[in-house]
Amino acid sequence: MSNVLKQAFDEAAEITRRNIPAFAAAYPDDCTRGERYPSRPVFEEFPVGANQGWTTSFVPGMQWLAYEQTGDEVFKTAALAHAEDFARRVHNREDLHTHDLGFLYTLASVVPWRLLGEESARAAALAAADALMERFLEPAGVIQAWGALADPSQRGRSIIDSLMNMPLLSWATEQTGNPKYAEAVRRHTAQLAKHIIRADDTTFHTFYWDAETGEPLRGGTAQGAADDSCWARGQAWGIYGFALNYDAVGDEELLVVARRCADYFLNHLPKDGVPFWDLIFTDGDDEPRDASAGAIAACGLQQLARVETDPARAARYEAAGVKMIHGLIAYTPTGKGVASDALLLHSVYSKPEGKGVDEGCLWGDYFYLEALMRHINPDWRRYW
Ligand code: GLY
Repeated sequence: MSNVLKQAFDEAAEITRRNIPAFAAAYPDDCTRGERYPSRPVFEEFPVGANQGWTTSFVPGMQWLAYEQTGDEVFKTAALAHAEDFARRVHNREDLHTHDLGFLYTLASVVPWRLLGEESARAAALAAADALMERFLEPAGVIQAWGALADPSQRGRSIIDSLMNMPLLSWATEQTGNPKYAEAVRRHTAQLAKHIIRADDTTFHTFYWDAETGEPLRGGTAQGAADDSCWARGQAWGIYGFALNYDAVGDEELLVVARRCADYFLNHLPKDGVPFWDLIFTDGDDEPRDASAGAIAACGLQQLARVETDPARAARYEAAGVKMIHGLIAYTPTGKGVASDALLLHSVYSKPEGKGVDEGCLWGDYFYLEALMRHINPDWRRYW
């Protein structure tokens, strides 16, 4: 095991430990402002620091990773308190109009069930899987990403990030024996494999289907530079998401698409290996990086290497993942020589909306820690 990666994990786990009393009961916002996470702002009926939005589960996700590696109960106690709050959220049906229930409940609830046999967490995760299934659209065979199902501006829309929400449904079939969740995964991932990747191996961020007829309509972007550009984080979600779902579904096409996402991503990196926020940019462009896309890709490349059927490709993806993490270490507080409560700096949430530009973010922190965990502890059982 590399000492550099072990030391990077220890430093990141230490920040995770300090954040427990610092954040106390308030959830941090999605992104830092000036190297620090403010509390989540007031949103609709939710007060400051409430458990709303799609990123709150990355907090317990990091705590579970730190707990597994260190055995320190302080992480377990904090993460279990979050599991309780996530159970309350789903049973009260608070802020559930999103496909991101997979991101949320895999980390906050499936993990404590798997690691500790927490029955209340299992029940919460199954309730979240049922809420996610309410978003499955027949006859299109896709799960709607955002908003109320009746909202005409969102109806029939899916996004590439959705691939990471599928493992909650695969788990629900494994737990209940009911095939309907796995069938939704099979159909949703087949639709994305067919329509969200373009002939040149770039991906759309978002794709619309006609919810009434099931007809595929058009691709576009929300967070990329242009409808026909290649949003870096979307491509990274594609690598990881298609590789994970290939393992769950067994459809060869998902492996082929994961490879195409990975090869394009790796061929469009700047010299230091940390992607710009959109892959149309490269060395010499005055644009911010999205280190979080690199962290997701690092996890995805290792996952792809694990399921890859061609040994030469597997070795190439494994090596590229390790190189990516080494590149990311220069983008941490230690690497940049600054104090921060983020684990990874210099990401972009949404450049077109001017949101979280060149900041730390909760998902970047989580996937950076997961990427390190994957390499320092090869026996670690993945959460997705
Ligand atoms: N899943 C939302 C994002 O990547 O920004």
